[in-house]
Amino acid sequence: MRDEEIGRALLDWYDRHARALPWRVGPEERRAGVRPDPYRVWLSEIMLQQTTVAAVRDYFRRFTERWPDVAALAAAEDGDVMAEWAGLGYYARARNLLKCARVVAGDHGGQFPESRDGLLLLPGIGPYTAAAIAAIAHDEPAAVVDGNVERVIARLFAVETPLPAAKPDLTALAARLTPADRPGDHAQAMMDLGATICTPKSPACGICPLRPACKAEREGIATGLPRKTPKKAKPIRHGIAYVGQRDDGAVLVERRPESVLLGGMLGWPGTGWAEAEPAPAPPMPADWRSAPGEVRHTFTHFHLRLSVMTARLPDATAAGAGQFLAPGDFRPSDLPTLMRKVYDLAAAALHDD
Ligand code: ADE
Repeated sequence: MRDEEIGRALLDWYDRHARALPWRVGPEERRAGVRPDPYRVWLSEIMLQQTTVAAVRDYFRRFTERWPDVAALAAAEDGDVMAEWAGLGYYARARNLLKCARVVAGDHGGQFPESRDGLLLLPGIGPYTAAAIAAIAHDEPAAVVDGNVERVIARLFAVETPLPAAKPDLTALAARLTPADRPGDHAQAMMDLGATICTPKSPACGICPLRPACKAEREGIATGLPRKTPKKAKPIRHGIAYVGQRDDGAVLVERRPESVLLGGMLGWPGTGWAEAEPAPAPPMPADWRSAPGEVRHTFTHFHLRLSVMTARLPDATAAGAGQFLAPGDFRPSDLPTLMRKVYDLAAAALHDD
C-alpha cells in the first residue's frame, strides 16, 4: 500500500471505530464543523502523558467542571490545583500546567497559540504536546508521535532498531504518513489503533485495517517490535517519614518546597532520600515509634523505601516547620500517592496504639 492508501484506510477505520472520549470531537461532529476546544485538548494531552485514558477520564471531568476554561484555571489557587492533580504523578507537570495557563491568560488574551512552533514556547509544552494540540485543535499536519504511535510505525515498517535510538526514524516515517487532509483525525486514529488493536503484547492483527501494509506482520515479528534497549536497573533509596497526630486528631504536614520531588504537594516531615540509610530527623521531640512494614514507591530514576514513624502529640503542640491540619481540613486524597501510602501505614499503627 502507498502512504496515501495507508492514511485513507486508517481514517476509514477511525470513522467507524473512534473511541468516544470526553475531550474529543469525534469524526462525525468534526465533519459537521464542530471545532475542538484547544484548552480541553491541551489539558487532556498533559494528563495523558502521565497515565492511561481510563485513569485520566475522572481527573479530566473534575478539572473541567471546576475550571471550565483557561482563564478560570489561571485564576485558581496553586494548592487547589495540586490537590486535584494528586494521584496523577509527575507533579512538576501540574506546576507547569498552572504556569502555562497563566501565560496564556495573561500574555495571549486567553487564546492558545495555533501553531506548533508557537505552542512550543509555552511552559510544559514539549514537541509531542505541541504537535498534538496543533494537529488536533487546528488541523496542522504535524507528526504526533507518542509511545502508541511509535509501536504502530515500528511494526508497519518493520523498524528493528531499538528505542530510543529509533526515535528519529520513527518520527520521519510518521511524518511521511501524515495527510494534509484531516491531520488531527489521523493523529487520533493512530493513537486509537495503538491503544486498541496494535497493542504491545497481543496485537489483534486479524482485525487491523493496516494489515495489508504491515511489514512486521508479514515477517511474523510484530509482537517483538518495537525493540527496546534494556534500561539500567534503578537504585534503591531510603528515607524516614514522620506522621505525628495530636490528641485532637490534627496531623502535622508540610508543603514540600518547589525544588524537590513532589514539590508543591503536601507531605509528611522526614529525612531526605538517599542510598545510604538515613539518620533520624524527627520534626519535634516525641515518643516516635516505628510503624510495622515500609512504604515502597517507584520514581522515574529510583525505587524508594520509606520507614514510617508515628507519635501521638499533646493537644497544645505547636508546629515548628509545617502545619497542623484538623481532621475536617485533612483529606488523604489531597496527598500524592507516596504520601497517601505513608498515611495508610501510619493510620493502621496509630489505631493499634
Ligand atoms: N493518548 C494521548 N493523547 C490521546 C488522544 N488525543 N486520543 C487518544 N489517546 C490519546
